[in-house]
Amino acid sequence: MATKFTASAPGQVFFFGEHSVVYGKPAIGAAIGLRTSVTAEKPNGSNNLIRIKSENFGSFEGTVGGDGSIKTKREGDFGKLMYSVKCAEHFFRKFGIAGGVTLSISSQVPTKSGMSSSTALLVSELAALGAAFGVGIKKEEFFELAIPIQKEIHGGRASGTELIPSIYGGFVEVVSGKPTPLKMVDTKAADLVIGDTGIPMSTAVMVKQVAALKARHPAILDRIFDDMALIAEDGKRALMAGDLKKVGELMNVNQGLLSAIGVSGPELEELIFAARSAGALGAKLSGGGGGKCMVALCPGRKSQVASAINRAGGRAIITEIGAGGLEVKAV
Ligand code: MEV
Repeated sequence: MATKFTASAPGQVFFFGEHSVVYGKPAIGAAIGLRTSVTAEKPNGSNNLIRIKSENFGSFEGTVGGDGSIKTKREGDFGKLMYSVKCAEHFFRKFGIAGGVTLSISSQVPTKSGMSSSTALLVSELAALGAAFGVGIKKEEFFELAIPIQKEIHGGRASGTELIPSIYGGFVEVVSGKPTPLKMVDTKAADLVIGDTGIPMSTAVMVKQVAALKARHPAILDRIFDDMALIAEDGKRALMAGDLKKVGELMNVNQGLLSAIGVSGPELEELIFAARSAGALGAKLSGGGGGKCMVALCPGRKSQVASAINRAGGRAIITEIGAGGLEVKAV
């Protein structure tokens, strides 16, 4: 039996519903063509060494204790591979495993960019570990498994929405962590350009900032979140009907409300206005905001909008939208 498996999972973007989804409102997300791959290899014979090698973040070596906890030589120093170590620790504890493993990570998803890089890592690492240790994790079990780790990464409050497109792929409506795949009649719905501001921002910081604003103005923020829910519901219907003009218009309204709750910023706004001026039907930030990335809906004008985003100081990314979800294979 093979004990080496590679799992890969995509990043994702939000069409509608970031931040309001933390307060139980619906969101619409889509998997993107940028993926993270994790290969998990169980050693021949038994040992309790864990090695993690990442193309972008160096390496980590530690030992797995009898209770599944992971220790490094330098206590608590997980460096840039902290998410990966936490994910492995969670897996070992959950399944009562204390075995050694080597994890090799490579990722096309830029970190802290709003394209759900930590989610793509979580999903692919859990799947690779599950396959290597013979724990059959079904797709519908990933959400419950990953959400405690996601919450820790996001500083205690996380909807887990991003997990869903990463697991299932395609376009998905997420309500309270439950996925509903969306069927598009018009594939031009997928003509999005992503614009990376290059400004990294922690989602945990932005989510806390919104919670603090809501604590000061609860009735106002509740109304804004209700409006964001209406936008997501109308946006879903427009996406499915192929009414792209309406999708774009609703993205613009959603952006106005995201700005109202304080999660936009000058760099994001510059890319958003550049995209709109170059003919995008709609443009908004995607994800936590405060930097990170925006998305522009621009059927038939992807290259013009991408150039405008680049000229405005961002980095345009043209990639598949509604891409495939989690894949696992023996290697
Ligand atoms: C972060 O990418 C999306 C937020 O809605 C947070 C969450 O859903 O947990 C801001």
